[in-house]
Order: sequence, then structure tokens, then C-alpha cells
Amino acid sequence: MKKLLAIAFSITLSLALSLGLSLTASLPAQADSITEAELNEITAQWKPSAHALADVNCSSCHQDSETKAFVEKPNYESCQSCHEGETDTFLLGKHGIRLREGQTPLTPTKARIAMKPEAHSKQMNCNACHNVHSVDTYQASVDSCLTCHNDEHSLNYKNSKHSQSFLAEGNIERPSNASVTCSTCHLQREADKSGKNTFVNHNNTYNLKPRDRMASEVCMNCHGMEYAFNSIFDNELVNSNFSRPPEIHLKSFDMVRVLQEKREGK
Ligand code: HEC
Ligand code: HEC
Ligand code: HEC
Ligand code: HEC
Ligand code: HEC
Ligand code: HEC
Repeated sequence: MKKLLAIAFSITLSLALSLGLSLTASLPAQADSITEAELNEITAQWKPSAHALADVNCSSCHQDSETKAFVEKPNYESCQSCHEGETDTFLLGKHGIRLREGQTPLTPTKARIAMKPEAHSKQMNCNACHNVHSVDTYQASVDSCLTCHNDEHSLNYKNSKHSQSFLAEGNIERPSNASVTCSTCHLQREADKSGKNTFVNHNNTYNLKPRDRMASEVCMNCHGMEYAFNSIFDNELVNSNFSRPPEIHLKSFDMVRVLQEKREGK
């Protein structure tokens, strides 16, 4: 089996036009549990991925950059050098902060809010949401969240117009500005340091409180200010995951209107 794995890895590596790096020499015995079929499946997921297109191959993640040793189960550190913004922000939010502090990863058993029972021992890392071999962001945007989250707000998302538009769009190239997923609101897209490109802010705590942060940085990309604020400060509406129009009417907007009218001498 060890030899089989070694051959499969070297075939994949040559497919990936690897830069002459070979993992075969350092393939350890613990990789023995992987069958040839599993390896073929992983390769098939990787081949059409954004990574394969960008020449990010098996060894980019499975080889320690210093020792050159084979790493069987890479963690977030293997992504960090290429995805600094995503990794640094992930480590600041509730999902990642335990890893930043050198503790064991967050698991649903530690949660205060409802989680799927079958996910209780699932460990939080980049691969909790991403299939690390296909790096498909469609599946990551909603389905991955619902493998763990089981509270009313999360489950109600499927009843919303936001969800309908996401499903109607299908698995198009992401990011898309036309639909709203869990990640549109909770892992918001921001301009990077250069200001030319965007990156996904993976800090899932960042825009929860105060709520006007999400209203202005997310909702107002599509809705007017008054609509956004009247929606986000309606607890029932948040609980229903925005599956009806807003019903509350924030008084402050009336005050602003009165002031405006006074100023305009009406
Ligand atoms: C973007 C980084 C990345 C790339 C590229 C990548 N892998 Fe992985 N791979 C990972 C991570 C992260 C894990 C650990 C998943 C886990 O802990 O369950 C993993 C796990 C594995 C496993 C172990 C699965 C298990 O259940 O033990 C195998 C085998 C594997 N990868 C093979 C490959 C092959 C072959 C390629 C190239 C076709 C490849 N990987 C490309 C990141 C990557
Ligand atoms: C050697 C550099 C490198 C490493 C290591 C790497 N990536 Fe990537 N990743 C890239 C490049 C390049 C792209 C394509 C970027 C683009 O198209 O803008 C990409 C794209 C992605 C995408 C978006 C895919 C899409 O369809 O838009 C995700 C998600 C992703 N990577 C996750 C990861 C994760 C998780 C890890 C670690 C397990 C990782 N990457 C490791 C370079 C890397
Ligand atoms: C591996 C399981 C798992 C997955 C997958 C997952 N989460 Fe979580 N998430 C958790 C746990 C555990 C908590 C902590 C809950 C608690 O403390 O009550 C949490 C907390 C949160 C919080 C609250 C953060 C805070 O500071 O209170 C948000 C928002 C969140 N997750 C959104 C998401 C979104 C969006 C996705 C998908 C893109 C996702 N989660 C995927 C397990 C998961
Ligand atoms: C809670 C789930 C979750 C976790 C954990 C997570 N991601 Fe993501 N990630 C997503 C989602 C969802 C998207 C797609 C967001 C969108 O485009 O709406 C995404 C997008 C990305 C992208 C593509 C960015 C772009 O510009 O298109 C990269 C790269 C990435 N993640 C890397 C990582 C890395 C590295 C880690 C670990 C440090 C990680 N992710 C952990 C859910 C997650
Ligand atoms: C249109 C925006 C939007 C969408 C879509 C959305 N959420 Fe939320 N989410 C919110 C707002 C607003 C809050 C309340 C923030 C606060 O006051 O703490 C929230 C709160 C949460 C919390 C924290 C709950 C708590 O009691 O601590 C979790 C977890 C969460 N959302 C997960 C999800 C998941 C999973 C999805 C997709 C299935 C999703 N959300 C879709 C806006 C959204
Ligand atoms: C990418 C654009 C986009 C973003 C971002 C966005 N929405 Fe929406 N929202 C829409 C679209 C499109 C609809 C559907 C309009 C329709 O069909 O009438 C909608 C519908 C709604 C509805 C009405 C639901 C119904 O059943 O009539 C509410 C309430 C709502 N959004 C609140 C919010 C809040 C609050 C935020 C931020 C936390 C937000 N939206 C973020 C595009 C967006």
C-alpha cells in the first residue's frame, strides 16, 4: 500500500506540473490507511479546482516548507502564506480564536446555541467549511454552515427571499453580488490592503455587534438605509432570517426627517 500511495502521489505530482519536488521519498507509514479509490477521488476534486488552475498542487499544502517533510493532515498554517487576510481574520473570530490562543479547536460541544447532534465532535479549522481539495465556495456558503448550526435563525434562512435568489442562481462563479448567503452577512467581503482586490473577512464575530455595523457594511450594498435599519433592529425578523418585509419603524428616522424638513424651511 505504501508503494501504491507513493506511485499515486508521484503521478498526481507530475500531473500538477510540480516544480520537481517529490513527496515520495518522505511518505510516512501513517498514510497507509488511504485507499487508492480515495486518492483518485481527491485528485478528481482537485483537478478542476481554482487551485489546480493556479498551479497550487498537492505538495503546496502537504509538504512542510522548511523540513520538506510530508504532512498528512495539514491545518490552517498550510494556507496562511497564500491567504494571509482570510487566515488572520479567521483567527480573530469565535470560530478561530481558540486556535490563535493555542487551545484545542472549537467544537459544537462547546456551544451555547443549538448545534446538529451529529456534528458534536467536528473540529473547527479551514476544512470545517471548505472541501480543501475542490475549494468550492458554493457549498461553503450555506451547506457547510448547516452541518453544525441548528438554531432557529440559521434554519429559517431556507425560507427567505435571500435563499431563493441564491438557489435560483445556481453554482455560478463566486463571488456573486446578486445573492445573499450566510457568508454574505457573516463573512463579509472587504477591500484588501492594496484596495484593488477583495478578500473575505473570516472573523465571524466582527459585524454582529453593534448591529448598525452589518446594516451599513452589508445590507446597504443592496437596500436603502431605512429599510436596512428597520429590518436589522427587528429581533423577530432576525430570528426568521429576514423572511418577510420589515414591520417596525425606527423613530430616529422620523426625527431625522423632521429635522431635514425644518432645515428646508417646510
Ligand atoms: C489547498 C491545500 C491542499 C491541496 C492543494 C491538497 N490537499 Fe490534501 N489535504 C489538505 C488538508 C487541509 C487535508 C486535511 C483534511 C483533514 O484534516 O481531514 C488534506 C488531506 C488529504 C489526505 C488525507 C485524507 C484523510 O482522510 O486522511 C490525502 C490522502 C490528501 N489530502 C491527498 C491530496 C492529494 C493527492 C492532493 C493533490 C491532488 C492534495 N491532497 C492536495 C490540503 C490540501
Ligand atoms: C501556494 C499558494 C496557496 C496555498 C498554500 C493555498 N491556496 Fe487557496 N488559492 C491560491 C490561489 C492562487 C487561488 C486562486 C486565487 C484567485 O483565483 O484569485 C486560491 C483560491 C482559493 C479559494 C477560492 C476558490 C474559488 O473557487 O474561488 C479558496 C476557498 C482557497 N483557495 C482556500 C484555501 C485553503 C483552505 C488552503 C489551505 C488548506 C489554501 N487555499 C491553500 C493559492 C493557495
Ligand atoms: C464545525 C462546526 C461549525 C461550522 C461548519 C460553522 N460554525 Fe459557526 N459556530 C460554530 C460554533 C461551535 C460556534 C460557537 C457558538 C456558541 O458559542 O454558542 C459558532 C459561532 C458562530 C457565530 C457567532 C459568533 C459569535 O461571536 O457569537 C456565527 C455568526 C457563525 N458561527 C456563523 C457561521 C457561518 C456563516 C458558517 C458557514 C459559513 C459557520 N458558522 C460554520 C460551529 C460551526
Ligand atoms: C465558517 C466557515 C469557513 C471557515 C472556517 C473558513 N472559510 Fe474560507 N470561505 C468560507 C466561505 C463561505 C467563503 C465564500 C465567501 C463568499 O464568497 O461569499 C470563503 C472564501 C474563502 C476564500 C476565497 C476568497 C475570495 O476572494 O474569493 C479563501 C481564500 C478562503 N476562504 C480561505 C480560508 C482559509 C485559509 C481558512 C482557514 C484559515 C478558511 N477559509 C476558513 C467559509 C469558511
Ligand atoms: C441577511 C443577513 C443574514 C443572513 C443571510 C444570515 N444571518 Fe445570521 N445573523 C444576522 C444578524 C443580523 C444576526 C444578529 C446579530 C446580533 O445581534 O448578534 C445574526 C446572528 C447569527 C448567529 C448568532 C446567533 C446567536 O444567538 O449568537 C449565528 C450563529 C448565525 N447568525 C448564523 C447564520 C447562518 C448559519 C446563516 C445561513 C444559514 C445565517 N446566519 C444567515 C444576519 C444574517
Ligand atoms: C446582495 C444584495 C443584498 C444584500 C447584501 C442584502 N439583501 Fe436583503 N434582499 C435582497 C433581495 C434581492 C431581496 C428580494 C427582494 C424581492 O424579491 O422583493 C431581499 C429581501 C430582503 C427582505 C424582504 C424579505 C421578504 O420576504 O420580503 C428583507 C427584510 C431584507 N432583504 C433584509 C436584509 C438585511 C437586514 C440585510 C443585511 C443584514 C440584507 N437584506 C442584505 C438583496 C440583498
